[in-house]
Amino acid sequence: MQSKTPKESITILTDIVLPGETNPLNNLFGGELLARMDRAASITARRHSRRICVTASVNNVAFNKSIPLGSVVTIEAKVSRTFRTSMEIFLDVWIEDRESGNRQKANEAIYTFVAVDEMGAPVEIAPVIPETAEEKSRFEAALRRKQLSLVLAGKMKPSEATELKALFQ
Ligand SMILES: CC(C)(COP(=O)(O)OP(=O)(O)OC[C@H]1O[C@@H](n2cnc3c(N)ncnc32)[C@H](O)[C@@H]1OP(=O)(O)O)[C@@H](O)C(=O)NCCC(=O)NCCS
Repeated sequence: MQSKTPKESITILTDIVLPGETNPLNNLFGGELLARMDRAASITARRHSRRICVTASVNNVAFNKSIPLGSVVTIEAKVSRTFRTSMEIFLDVWIEDRESGNRQKANEAIYTFVAVDEMGAPVEIAPVIPETAEEKSRFEAALRRKQLSLVLAGKMKPSEATELKALFQ
């Protein structure tokens, strides 16, 4: 199968935070951000695989910075690594200053998507070839994140998580 680079499937989603999407502190609801990130990641997964893609797991979400009402939020979703049928999608969330236009990193998250056929059965996908230093570093670390996710989901025995164990040795 023809390999692809992360930039071939990148999705950039820019939207504003409206009053119905905030908590009592007038910051964006965590669940609203999760949904926006899921949408962006699913488009990236589909663009990479050209298949139906479903969310298999949300591996990490860091709500480092609150996002105030009225913010312009940009979500960038990129494939960080592919496996046989699954792919890890890395999300970077930015907000931009209204006056200067400067971007500030607000959050990041890591989702896993699986490409499936019309019956919902997993299907093989094209490999991803990282290009930039950041893409290469995210690619390198993705296998241990996959193993951690599978161990936590009860789908892999901790003794089989070799990459993960190597971290502690
Ligand atoms: C995701 C799903 C397709 C996996 O099906 P499955 O029967 O577990 O299939 P497999 O065991 O062959 O796993 C398929 C791939 O997903 C990976 N995977 C499954 N669960 C995972 C998890 N919790 N974390 C990371 N990867 C996971 C497997 O490692 C495998 O990857 P690989 O083929 O690249 O090595 C299935 O559980 C499903 O359809 N879930 C519902 C999805 C959904 O409705 N999402 C929300 C709405 S979009």
